Amino acid sequence: MSKKLLLGVNVDHVATLRQVRGTSYPDPVEVALLAEKAGADYITMHLREDRRHIQADDVLRLKQLQTTYLNLEVAITDEMLDFAVDVSPQDCCLVPEKREELTTEGGLDVANQLDLVKKAVDKLHKANIRVSLFIDTDIDQIQAAADSGAKVVEFHTGHYADAPAEDKERYLNNLTDGFALADKLGLLVNAGHGLTVENVSSVAQIEYVKELNIGHSIVARSVMVGIEQAVSEIREAMGLGFVN
Ligand code: PXP
Repeated sequence: MSKKLLLGVNVDHVATLRQVRGTSYPDPVEVALLAEKAGADYITMHLREDRRHIQADDVLRLKQLQTTYLNLEVAITDEMLDFAVDVSPQDCCLVPEKREELTTEGGLDVANQLDLVKKAVDKLHKANIRVSLFIDTDIDQIQAAADSGAKVVEFHTGHYADAPAEDKERYLNNLTDGFALADKLGLLVNAGHGLTVENVSSVAQIEYVKELNIGHSIVARSVMVGIEQAVSEIREAMGLGFVN
């Protein structure tokens, strides 16, 4: 029997579109509920310290309304860890955060801040929240993740996704080796970042992969597949009728 691979849909960039205009739409929660209907196994939201996309209220509303479960991404700060404990998502993914970055550019440096990570993992475990650490496929980081007490890691696939065609295989081999090591150390292994319809299948086929977390490409694609209907609807509202 083939393994059951889970899809986590990240709706952060629906909120990005809302925040640039300060409107109430598009609502990431409404989109998350549609994603669940379409087969998302769970929903991911990243509450960033600068609140550039998802707001605390989005997380609270999603938690009330969703039919699957929440994977909340946060940085390791007291404020965020307290918020996670209050919200009580099934999963909490600890990520590094830099104010100036466009997106989460690299994995969490677990090896050089093991005590801090251990304390965060411990606090979330005590609240019955499963913790995953977003890391690069680096041997020291994988070992440190296992030492931290976390049961799950999520590998950063952005380097593979961004690599030029001639380097893709090297990055994929690196990911594959990372998966094998993490599995050997008893960790569940997920992956995400930069995955698209074009590049996801190679990662989905790696042995040991349990869940893939995908956001930006799905939100971007939904614009492409939805624009015709959106234009038709506004024409109709203007009394212009449909175009065949
Ligand atoms: N996993 C983590 C930990 C992330 O921070 C992100 C980006 O927010 C993703 C997965 C999804 O990446 P993308 O939006 O490129 O699909």
